[in-house]
Amino acid sequence: MPNKFFGQRKSVLFVDDDESLLLLERIRLERAGYEFIGALNGVEGLRYAHDMQPDIIMLDYMMPGLSGKEVFLELLQSPIERLRHTPVIMLTAKTDNYTEQRALLELGLSAYLCKPFGNHELLNIIDNVLVMSHIKERNRILEREARRSWVGTIKALISLLAVKDGYTCEHSSMVAELAEMLARGLNLSEVEVTNIKLGALLHDVGKIGVPESVLRKSGELTPDETEVMRLHVDHGERALEGIPQMENVHAIVKHHHEWWNGNGYPLGLKGEEIPLGARIVAVVDAYDAMTSDRPYRKRMPQATAIQRLRAGAGVQFDQRLVEKFVECLLASDAERTRSINYSFIEELHNVA
Ligand SMILES: [Fe+2]
Repeated sequence: MPNKFFGQRKSVLFVDDDESLLLLERIRLERAGYEFIGALNGVEGLRYAHDMQPDIIMLDYMMPGLSGKEVFLELLQSPIERLRHTPVIMLTAKTDNYTEQRALLELGLSAYLCKPFGNHELLNIIDNVLVMSHIKERNRILEREARRSWVGTIKALISLLAVKDGYTCEHSSMVAELAEMLARGLNLSEVEVTNIKLGALLHDVGKIGVPESVLRKSGELTPDETEVMRLHVDHGERALEGIPQMENVHAIVKHHHEWWNGNGYPLGLKGEEIPLGARIVAVVDAYDAMTSDRPYRKRMPQATAIQRLRAGAGVQFDQRLVEKFVECLLASDAERTRSINYSFIEELHNVA
């Protein structure tokens, strides 16, 4: 029997205002080994769906009150994750609207079944849809696990950086907040904003590979020490190698010390050759460094830091970004703390 394929009895919620059809389908499906749940209208169907969480839902398209389409759209919005992914088959007449039918398939409807249908046709489509749904569910689980380990890797890197150098870690957290503010001010897409924020958080992760004698030196670095410090962009790039979906983050880690006029490192890229995310991080990184207390100097007032950024516009920084950053900064009254905020990384996890 098809429903035994998965090793347990499957339940079918059948929503149709035709009582005689429900009776017939109950007999057919129970005979085939399914657990049958019948509902005579959309409201009842939704209630049973939430209460019993069936394995598959059959919806009559044309029903008085809530239509099959409306029930399906409600299910897609359900707070219960399992229900949002429960396969739904829509029962239609041959004359129904094909454009709308296609639109519902794109929203995730599993299949249509045209009325009238025979026993074999019914069991066949339920079987096929259950197999497809089983495969999709397995893929969802695998994707979620992959994402969880991806997020775990990022958190591990940040924790290592926190152990190695607490200041850099707190500074990176602030840079991430400021980079997000600027990226939003530039009306970038949500995906771009998230990548830039992640890149900003990890921009100095390569400092894990810099000796503490150099990293924590309070005086000026010697030329040799400067070279050692500069290597943090390469260490960072290597640390992220092999972690998937990090292409845009790589670019930020590698190029956040490039200068607009080409005098930066590691490659001496110029102007818009420098990836946008790296140019954003360059501005906010400098701002946060100037406005942070360090053991060897007090922080600068905001106005002085803005003046310095403007002086560096067109030389070290992208002028357009400096002006946008100043505009966003002066308009923002957001409270920013130096504590590490992992919540957006958790959100990345939940996207799956
Ligand atoms: Fe850096």
